[in-house]
Amino acid sequence: MKTKTQSSKGTGTMEESLDSVFGHELTEVYHAQKQLGKLYESMAKAAQNEELKKSFEGQVQNTSLQISRIEKCFEMLELKPESKSIKIIAGLIESAEAAISEYSEGPVRDAALISAAQKIEHYGISTYGTLRTMATAMGKVQCAQLIEENKDEEAETDEELTRIALTINPAAI
Ligand SMILES: [Fe+2]
Repeated sequence: MKTKTQSSKGTGTMEESLDSVFGHELTEVYHAQKQLGKLYESMAKAAQNEELKKSFEGQVQNTSLQISRIEKCFEMLELKPESKSIKIIAGLIESAEAAISEYSEGPVRDAALISAAQKIEHYGISTYGTLRTMATAMGKVQCAQLIEENKDEEAETDEELTRIALTINPAAI
C-alpha cells in the first residue's frame, strides 16, 4: 500500500511529485498566456465600445508582463517550459472567435466578447491561485509573489469587464 509520501510509482517523495505538478501547471499557463496575448489583439480590433477596446489593449500588455513573471519563476526554479498544445485554451479561444464571427460590430458583439474574456480571466484567476498556493506550500516565496501579482491582475480585469458590461446600453441590444 502506498503511503502519503510516495508518488504513484511508489519511489518519489511528496515534494518531488508536487514539483512536477507545479511545473506542468506553470507550463500550461505560460503557453496559455502566449496564445491569449494574440487573441486579445483581435478582440481589441473587434470591440466597438471604446472602453472595452482599451481594456483589451491593456490585456495585451498585461499578458506580456505575466509571461515575463512566469519566465522569472522558471529561471528561479531552474526549469524550462516544454512546448505543448493547451486544450483548455482552445475552447476559450473558440468562444472569443465565435463572438467575432457570429455578430457584427456593435453592443451585442461587445457583450459576447466580454463573456468570452471573463471566462479567460477566470481561467487565469483559478490557475494562478492554485500555483500561488503550491509555490507557498513548497517554500518558493518569490515565485509565489510573482504568481500572486498575475492573479491580482486577472481579478482586476474581471472587475473592470463587469463595470464595462454595465455601461453597455441594453436598449441598443
Ligand atoms: Fe488576463
